[in-house]
Amino acid sequence: MDREQRRRHYLEAMGITMWVPRLAPPGPVSAGDPDTPAPADSRQQGVEQSPSASVQGASPLGKAKFAPDVLAPEKASPIAALDWEALEARVRGCTACALHRTRTQTVFGVGNREASWLVIGEAPGEQEDLRGEPFVGRAGQLLNEMLRAVGLSRESVYIANILKCRPPQNRDPQPDEAAACEAFLQRQLALIRPCIILAVGRVAAQNLLKTDTPIGKLRGSVHRYTGIPLVVTYHPAYLLRSPLEKRKAWDDLRLALRTFRESQP
Ligand code: URA
Repeated sequence: MDREQRRRHYLEAMGITMWVPRLAPPGPVSAGDPDTPAPADSRQQGVEQSPSASVQGASPLGKAKFAPDVLAPEKASPIAALDWEALEARVRGCTACALHRTRTQTVFGVGNREASWLVIGEAPGEQEDLRGEPFVGRAGQLLNEMLRAVGLSRESVYIANILKCRPPQNRDPQPDEAAACEAFLQRQLALIRPCIILAVGRVAAQNLLKTDTPIGKLRGSVHRYTGIPLVVTYHPAYLLRSPLEKRKAWDDLRLALRTFRESQP
């Protein structure tokens, strides 16, 4: 399968039909073209580096370093000093809000702890609450396809949620619940030091950006969260209900990919 065929394959898996100009010349596509996702199987740090994007003088992790301002001492909570193991244990035992009474288990997050891409969703649903892993239901399958459309595997990124516990009946997180969980996510962010954040869905975007601006207005531009570029896209559960919006999600993913590539030294 060549690169173009692979791209079509991923887009089809996302449910996006490609219209190809009938007389389009078959010429090569530039390696730096953000419209051309890298193949998922030859990737380093999540996204294949074309020679022009090779990492020179980068951090040992091979990615640009951002210094999230969550590390600023005046903002630091005790959670801000925890390592991965201690953080995971703290989350597992958390009783800071009422959701601990109804959860089956906490859903900490999953993936590459040195990822360049941090994907942040809303909260665990039923499947996630049972399995202890984010995005494992139907929406999770579509999220995996969305990532693959830009050359990323689920394993290469880190996936977390605004909330670590499932809200009953999958209702929206309440402000006190999001506030109680915020330090956990901020610590994960500080440990991962991603190059880009992909906020999936209104709840993730609005909570991270501390706004009630509708998602339709938040997508399409690059925001910052603790100094890190953040791109907003639709939640895969919404895309399952509104497949015509997948085109816009594809635009968002390309914006994220372009932003990521531009962030590389
Ligand atoms: N929806 C989310 O936002 N997160 C999950 O983990 C699952 C579904």
